[in-house]
Amino acid sequence: MTNTDILAALQWRYGVKTFDTEKKVSEEDLATILESARLAPSSFGIEPWKFIVVNNPELRQKIRAAGYDQTKITDASHLIVIADRTDAEALTGELVDRTAKAQGKAPEDFAMLQNMVSGAIASKPEGMARDAFLTAQTYIPLGMMIETAALLGVDAGPMEGFDPVQVTSILGLEDKHLRAVTMLALGYRGDDAFAALPKTRRAHDEVIEVMN
Ligand SMILES: Cc1cc2nc3c(=O)[nH]c(=O)nc-3n(C[C@H](O)[C@H](O)[C@H](O)COP(=O)(O)O)c2cc1C
Repeated sequence: MTNTDILAALQWRYGVKTFDTEKKVSEEDLATILESARLAPSSFGIEPWKFIVVNNPELRQKIRAAGYDQTKITDASHLIVIADRTDAEALTGELVDRTAKAQGKAPEDFAMLQNMVSGAIASKPEGMARDAFLTAQTYIPLGMMIETAALLGVDAGPMEGFDPVQVTSILGLEDKHLRAVTMLALGYRGDDAFAALPKTRRAHDEVIEVMN
């Protein structure tokens, strides 16, 4: 894939409103899109997230009712709910165990990492600031899935337009220390007037500044 191909895919991509109800994303493409989320970077590598693929039609109907009746919630081929973790205290230990396992070492070898990460999380006051820090991480895999989908020619519709408290409850996420943050509909654009609209973006020089 050339640079031109990548930019063409990103120009082709837009936030789809109306999906084709008949066309399904292949298992291979879905797996690749989800893998790009799993491989996303996060602050310290804490990965405070979960990606829930909601296939159950009744659940999707309920989520749609909590999502301003956006048709893509039920009509897209797949719906992924991106959740963040509410149990910040568990994340450091999990990171240390994961890192130790990957490197074939003992968790005790990572005492410095343990102190640094738990200190960084503790330094954010419990409540809004800590929640915002964890929630912010989940936008990275969301972005990676949107880009991977575009590179595969799969359409995506990211969503924040829903009641996260209701969606968290519909999926029974509280008991799993999870909270719905965003959602991503995947599939293929249907008869969607938005597809024909020109892309609206700030000019290059407005958002990119080079300091030499
Ligand atoms: C985090 C996030 C949340 C969004 N929420 C919604 C949404 O709830 N409903 C919707 O129709 N579009 C939603 N969008 C799509 C944006 O409106 C769209 O990406 C933006 O206007 C730029 O246009 P484009 O993606 O079509 O180029 C969301 C996009 C992002 C990144």
